[in-house]
Amino acid sequence: MTDLLDALRSRHSSRVPFDSTRVVASHDLQLILDAARWAPTPHNMQNFEIIAVDDPALIEAIGDISSTVTLEFLRENYEQVSSSDEELARRKVGISARGFPPAWLDPATWEDLPASREFTRTLHESLLGCPVLLVVLYDAERRAPASQGDSLGLMGLGCVLENMWLRAQSLGISVQVLASLAGSEVEPALAKLLGIPDRMRVAFGCRLGYPLADTISGLRVRREIRDFAYRNVYGNPTSQTTP
Ligand SMILES: Cc1cc2nc3c(=O)[nH]c(=O)nc-3n(C[C@H](O)[C@H](O)[C@H](O)COP(=O)(O)O)c2cc1C
Repeated sequence: MTDLLDALRSRHSSRVPFDSTRVVASHDLQLILDAARWAPTPHNMQNFEIIAVDDPALIEAIGDISSTVTLEFLRENYEQVSSSDEELARRKVGISARGFPPAWLDPATWEDLPASREFTRTLHESLLGCPVLLVVLYDAERRAPASQGDSLGLMGLGCVLENMWLRAQSLGISVQVLASLAGSEVEPALAKLLGIPDRMRVAFGCRLGYPLADTISGLRVRREIRDFAYRNVYGNPTSQTTP
């Protein structure tokens, strides 16, 4: 049990450059896909497919795909990021502003959108040398019975993600989720490059690899148990102590 808790706590996002010359062994990739295979899904519908892209030429072509950040993203991101580690530690939710271009954090510049180059990025800036990119797909024409908006199916995709993430991490392979692969500009370009059928939607991507030696990861924060869990009645603490 201690091992499981350690694995859950040490799983983390690697938003750092990976060593593009260090491949992920085919056996390890199969172990990660096997973890996806055993994920729980609603009605056991297994509503996902995964393309593991490890052809360097294809990864290069995916990197050339560009997209412009939306005003919606900028506004909501601005609300949630913290400008310092102290602020992040105090808030206990959200992520650090570090890593976002300065213009994305300055509402005064947003009126230049989309003319300004600041708001257009290529996927090269996200892939950062990854030797393997997993593209996770789901079938938009199927859903769990009576699941409005396929919310249950989407939860299943989250389980697929967590299974793969924990397995990769246990193998010493770092992971970063790339939600931008499902964006309205990126998805069609990706579908064309990878031959994805029309009925399949891109859910998210995962870059896998080994960080370059001299990279650091940022502060990770979480709420206390008392901030989100209650006993019997809303607001009633479950315990006086945090493990
Ligand atoms: C559905 C989902 C989408 C995410 N999208 C991104 C993303 O696009 N880019 C990124 O760097 N992290 C992404 N993340 C990672 C979260 O930001 C991260 O898990 C969270 O900040 C907690 O940090 P940790 O993973 O280091 O514990 C995503 C996570 C989930 C579950």
